[in-house]
Amino acid sequence: MGYILEIKNLSVEANENHLKIIHNLSIKFPEESVSVIMGPNGSGKSSLCQTIIGNPEYSITDDLGDILFFNESIKSLKVNERALKGIFVSFQNPVEVAGVSIASFLRQSYFNKFKDKKFNDFKEELLKSLELLKLDNDFITKSLNENLSGGEKKKSEILQLLLLKPKLAILDEIDSGLDIDALRIVSNAINTVKNQGTTIILVTHYKRLTEYIDDIQNVFVIMDGELKKTGDKKLIEELEKNGYKAINS
Ligand SMILES: Nc1ncnc2c1ncn2[C@@H]1O[C@H](COP(=O)(O)OP(=O)(O)OP(=O)(O)O)[C@@H](O)[C@H]1O
Ligand SMILES: [Mg+2]
Repeated sequence: MGYILEIKNLSVEANENHLKIIHNLSIKFPEESVSVIMGPNGSGKSSLCQTIIGNPEYSITDDLGDILFFNESIKSLKVNERALKGIFVSFQNPVEVAGVSIASFLRQSYFNKFKDKKFNDFKEELLKSLELLKLDNDFITKSLNENLSGGEKKKSEILQLLLLKPKLAILDEIDSGLDIDALRIVSNAINTVKNQGTTIILVTHYKRLTEYIDDIQNVFVIMDGELKKTGDKKLIEELEKNGYKAINS
């Protein structure tokens, strides 16, 4: 089996202040795997996620740098083009969109992607997904992320994930702010998506989430915008015990 995503010699800066955030980063993510990205606050994890989906706030600074999705460069594609190819990135802090209900947003994204599906297909899958996330059916009448609690925002991201069935899902701190039950529910949904063939990349600070997720293959530690260590699940234990200072030594 090949790689679904290859980050090659990637250097990234923020357009706003030309801050150099990522430096010559190379990581390969195998197809149908679960990988975890960890690293201290401010090390560039979210910036990497946003660069992969093509957020225009970030620029690749070096022509050598590339992002390959199924061996094809996507670095010149727009956000929606990358999404249509099957890449999904959840936001660490989802933006609030006033006046757009979750239902209408989900419906639009769903039919954008699955043009031949019928309304009943959408409804059926939506109801199934709400049940999996233990959400009431009237959850989707709420405004997109407006006045949602922290945990509800995370569940609404997972609801999109369940409906869109991307090839690759990059989940940026999907566990932050979730209560104990919600963490299990969301983990269960992630395992469901994974078992349907979606490749998962989890960005997290805590071992807790990774205890609920099946078959974690790779753990990558990013510090100061560089890949500092690669390992398997045991590396998460080590980090939990010793913190990041042990990595540099
Ligand atoms: N759009 C932006 N404009 C300016 N600076 C940015 C931008 N995005 C990120 N940065 C800066 O880049 C650095 C890395 O931020 P980033 O959010 O990628 O870190 P992170 O590893 O996700 O941290 P955390 O674990 O706290 O979420 C920080 O110093 C941050 O201030
Ligand atoms: Mg972050």
